[in-house]
Amino acid sequence: MEDIQRDISLNMVRVTEVAALRASRYLGLNDKNGADQAAVDGMRGMLDLVNIRGRIVIGEGEKDKAPMLYIGEQVGNWNHPEYPELDIAVDPIDGTRLVANGQANALAIIAVGGKDSLAFLPTFYVQKLAYGPKLCGYLDINCPVRENLKVASACLNKSTRDLTIAVMDRPRHKDLIAEIRECGARIKLIGDGDVAASIATCIDDGRIDLYMGVGGAPESVLTAVAMRCMEGDIQVKLSPQNAAELESIKADGYDPERVYFAKDLARGEDMMFACTGITDGELLPGVKFRGNKAVSYSLATRLKTKTIRHIQAEHNLRQKTIPSKTLSKEQLV
Ligand code: FBP
Repeated sequence: MEDIQRDISLNMVRVTEVAALRASRYLGLNDKNGADQAAVDGMRGMLDLVNIRGRIVIGEGEKDKAPMLYIGEQVGNWNHPEYPELDIAVDPIDGTRLVANGQANALAIIAVGGKDSLAFLPTFYVQKLAYGPKLCGYLDINCPVRENLKVASACLNKSTRDLTIAVMDRPRHKDLIAEIRECGARIKLIGDGDVAASIATCIDDGRIDLYMGVGGAPESVLTAVAMRCMEGDIQVKLSPQNAAELESIKADGYDPERVYFAKDLARGEDMMFACTGITDGELLPGVKFRGNKAVSYSLATRLKTKTIRHIQAEHNLRQKTIPSKTLSKEQLV
């Protein structure tokens, strides 16, 4: 899929742009479902236009619960037997609550890999440690926080108190936050959206050096695709929340002590990743409405070239139409 990949990769930006444009209409409206449905519908409609034979491996859930972008759903136009067969992982809004509350850091995300390349993780939550290229090969999720911060400070050539660690603001992170504080490092507490915080570690601007904590398992696979393309890494351990979940994953043959790296979660070489800011965030600005234009900001990258593209697009609101799967037609933004 060498040459085709180029086009597919840019078309994936169109997919996340559509989701972000539609979701951004719901900023602060306290309507999580409305925002999600709008993003899903736009993303699903746009995917039909891409020349791939795609299958959703991470999406909105099981078929009986999700009308679109459900796991196993075929996406893409499938019109040609030579179109590449791809695994598609989507999060039409990572940070639905953020959009509903008018807060920062929500992204529309798509990650793509070759057929059977994206891992299934059996738990709802996983423990994560994400970092940029300069820290690859030096950190260990099994080491005490203090050790990892010491190593990070040496590799990044700054004192521990100048490190910035992103952590989700959750009661489950009480001890983690206390440990980081004891080391004297800075903490950025985020409400939601740990994909953006993880990927931001790959952008060497000192905003976020490490992402640590327990978050959604599917988000870790999306993150892994981006990390591979951007030369960072993520370490992940299954995080069963109770004895029954632990027993159940063990019975299914999973090792709760295994450390998964990005390469284990996103296998093979056909990786592509795109995201568009819905609300302003660490990684990307959100959608802006300026006169009759909507401006979107996206990031697209693929493993083959490792080019990281920042794409700013001005969408003419009088002319631009975007596909709606539900209506089976194009509609104005
Ligand atoms: P959604 O908006 O897609 O529901 O997820 C937001 C999110 O913050 C993820 O980024 C994160 O991995 C997960 O939820 C954390 O889960 P929880 O809110 O249960 O702590």
